[in-house]
Amino acid sequence: MAPASTLLRAAAPAPHAHTSFPSHHTPTSSPNRTTITNTNPSANSTSSTPLHRIQTIAKHMALPQITSFPAEVVPQAPEDPLFGLARAFKADPSPQKVDLGIGAYRDENAKPWVLPVVKKADEIIRNDPEANHEYLPIAGLASLTSKAAELVVGASAPAITEGRVASIQTISGTGACHLGGLFLSRFYNPYGDASKKPTVYLSNPTWANHNQIFSNVGLPIAQYPYFDQKTKGLDIDGMKKALSDAPERSIILLHACAHNPTGVDPTLAQWREIAEIMAAKGHFPFFDTAYQGFASGDLDRDASAIRLFVELGFELVVAQSFAKNFGLYGQRAGCFHFISAPSPDAASITTRVASQLTLLQRSEISNPPIYGAKVASIVLNDPALFAEWKENLRTMSGRIIDMRKALRAKLEELGTPGPWNHITDQIGMFSFTGLNEKQVAKLREEFHIYMTKNGRISMAGLNKKNVDYVARAVDKVVREVQ
Ligand SMILES: Cc1ncc(COP(=O)(O)O)c(C=O)c1O
Repeated sequence: MAPASTLLRAAAPAPHAHTSFPSHHTPTSSPNRTTITNTNPSANSTSSTPLHRIQTIAKHMALPQITSFPAEVVPQAPEDPLFGLARAFKADPSPQKVDLGIGAYRDENAKPWVLPVVKKADEIIRNDPEANHEYLPIAGLASLTSKAAELVVGASAPAITEGRVASIQTISGTGACHLGGLFLSRFYNPYGDASKKPTVYLSNPTWANHNQIFSNVGLPIAQYPYFDQKTKGLDIDGMKKALSDAPERSIILLHACAHNPTGVDPTLAQWREIAEIMAAKGHFPFFDTAYQGFASGDLDRDASAIRLFVELGFELVVAQSFAKNFGLYGQRAGCFHFISAPSPDAASITTRVASQLTLLQRSEISNPPIYGAKVASIVLNDPALFAEWKENLRTMSGRIIDMRKALRAKLEELGTPGPWNHITDQIGMFSFTGLNEKQVAKLREEFHIYMTKNGRISMAGLNKKNVDYVARAVDKVVREVQ
């Protein structure tokens, strides 16, 4: 197979040409389109109300309208389904309630878990007389970003020693996806025509936010098949066909491990097949790694797909989150990495890309947040703490694996119409159960068990105390509702 870099270079007319943004401005309302309504009937009936006074002033000043954002221009947006689910769970007074919707680790008592190694790092920060609240550099904490790159490609990888990795600290994985999307929207111009943007191919299904993140930066979105409803495993043939049929040099979003929401990952042999097609088509890999070490408990194993693509010589990008594997959800620690293909120009390409990423970051967030970055950096740079982190990762992934086994065993013991092998075949935080929307609704109404409508459950929400209850509820619902 020809190295991907050769293919990419051969077909690339102007890889670093600027792309002008098309204007996406929705025209604001014209005066005659604007209607001012006041929902409080008494407010319009008296001449001394604040609204009346404002209207009088507006008339005097000849202001054309009160708002440029009436409902037909800015309609009420729907609530984010996941956060809506969390709110509904919180409001449910039932003592039996079970939250299988959350995308965050929970311990045996269904409580958030502060990793012991994170507590130690926090202690170090608090006892540091030099600690302050100064700005980080625009590209973030260098002691974090350098170690973060090593986590992705391996500490002794040629990509590191040859200076082929540009890394920048981001607002967790979401910010990394966004910055990567923005960079590609601006600079990845594979067709030599700024008005013809490359399409981002997302797995069907994917983490819902991917759709919004890439649409927001003006990149067209398409899907490739991923989940096989029948086997509840990977639809490798469908995926390969879609990648072969996609226009050359498309952007392909790949979950590095522990695919969200299905928990289904390609095998290493399947990753090779995927890589071969992508190289032949000159596709651009965009890896999203939000669960490294959390999936198998082994940091290297969970990075093997990315490392394979790097070794094959692809030029690629990686969005990396430390939310799950450090339990630093709210601290927003993450990185974006650009990795050049091996070439005599690699170091200068990397330097140029890094400079543009820094420029984009300056106008987006100026400087990334410091606390989570310090915590992760302390752990990654201290061999003893690093070893302890790996142990903490094994605790989390191990408990999740135990819960997979327990749920499957109970369902099989009950003779619940199945099969249920996918519960233990799938990996990572989530399982795509195959429960349909009606069954999901009944589980919530009758048993106070909460999960997303597509039947995805967070295994971290299960524990020894509730797994039997959940299995019995699933058993009943599967038998009663088709
Ligand atoms: C696939 C995937 N990518 C990225 C993220 C980003 O999360 P965060 O911004 O909290 O790091 C998540 C979180 O659920 C995810 O599941």
